[in-house]
Amino acid sequence: MSRAAVLSGLGTYLPPRRISNQEMSERFDTSDEWITSRTGINGRYWADVGTSSGDLAVEAATRALKSAGLSPEEAGVDSLVLATTTPDHPCPATAPDVAARVGLSDVAAFDIAAVCSGFVYALEVASNAVVSGRADSVLVVGAETYSTILDPEDRTTSVIFGDGAGAVLLRAGDSAEPGALLGFDMGADGRQKDLIKIPAGGSRQRSNGVAPEASDSYFTMQGRKVFAAAVQRMTDSSNKLLERIGWSMESVERVVGHQANVRILRAVAEQLGIPTERAVINVDKVGNTSSASIPLALADAVVERNLGVGQRVLLTAFGGGVTWGSAALVWPDVTPV
Ligand code: UT7
Repeated sequence: MSRAAVLSGLGTYLPPRRISNQEMSERFDTSDEWITSRTGINGRYWADVGTSSGDLAVEAATRALKSAGLSPEEAGVDSLVLATTTPDHPCPATAPDVAARVGLSDVAAFDIAAVCSGFVYALEVASNAVVSGRADSVLVVGAETYSTILDPEDRTTSVIFGDGAGAVLLRAGDSAEPGALLGFDMGADGRQKDLIKIPAGGSRQRSNGVAPEASDSYFTMQGRKVFAAAVQRMTDSSNKLLERIGWSMESVERVVGHQANVRILRAVAEQLGIPTERAVINVDKVGNTSSASIPLALADAVVERNLGVGQRVLLTAFGGGVTWGSAALVWPDVTPV
């Protein structure tokens, strides 16, 4: 037994406005048939005008505390880590505002930018803070409003991404308990930084002193290359992690992968040699919600797919940067809110 971060609450939030594939085909030159056959997505949720990622994060974090049955004071939260690609402002970070609105005073709060791998990155940083003794309780949140960065001229990205938020509460415990985070594998390859990017808005563009084209402020993605890299990196990372912690493939009961595309999720399970029905899929309902996708899929696994106490869960993600990360835990007695 050793000190570990233990998952003790799970909260999720989706904005109320669902956008069906039918509505997408009225806005773009696309069809329900193309979207479902290429991505597996049936619908996604987009935030209403005036709603930010921080607003969604506050809802999910509040629900994670509720799921643990604790008020912010009772939980003794000493850090809030927010993974997001769509912060409320370029400066400052969104996490301090979210922490204050959740009712946490004077706690460490910061953002993590690892695009769709953001939640696993945030989980690793939070877990390390607990294991080192620096923190006893951390809220880890992934929140996105991709609807604010999608190019209205780009049908491919517009049909894929959705808005949403998810959060987990971690507390100090020991590695033998269900819910303990038992290991991570993390990586990045900046040589592929151009596969996913927003060209304008950062110092690279601003230092040129030239006003950007409108389209440069939107999210761009080289879909096919990202697809191939996502399958390879999530598979390799999962293999490395499972080998390190001594779990066999057969013993993994749920693979909760970043919900990018149903074809990617099935390919990763196949390459790992895990039956595809163990790959949790909720991209059909919510689209690709980037750093919110893993907690949203975890909640779906509990509510819709009987993920039960004591079952082995593998989390794995891939995103812009490019970045990737995987984590392992045994599911605890936690009901999502
Ligand atoms: O979250 C980070 C990780 N993200 C991902 O992992 C996303 C990974 N990539 C993918 O999931 C897929 O590459 C996409 C879903 C983005 C695209 O699927 P694809 O099978 O790779 O399609 P494609 O980009 O190669 O495009 C195939 C065709 C093209 O037409 P032509 O050139 O064959 O005539 C596109 O113009 O599909 C066309 N197309 C569309 N047609 C109807 C692209 N988007 C659409 C659309 N509706 N929305």
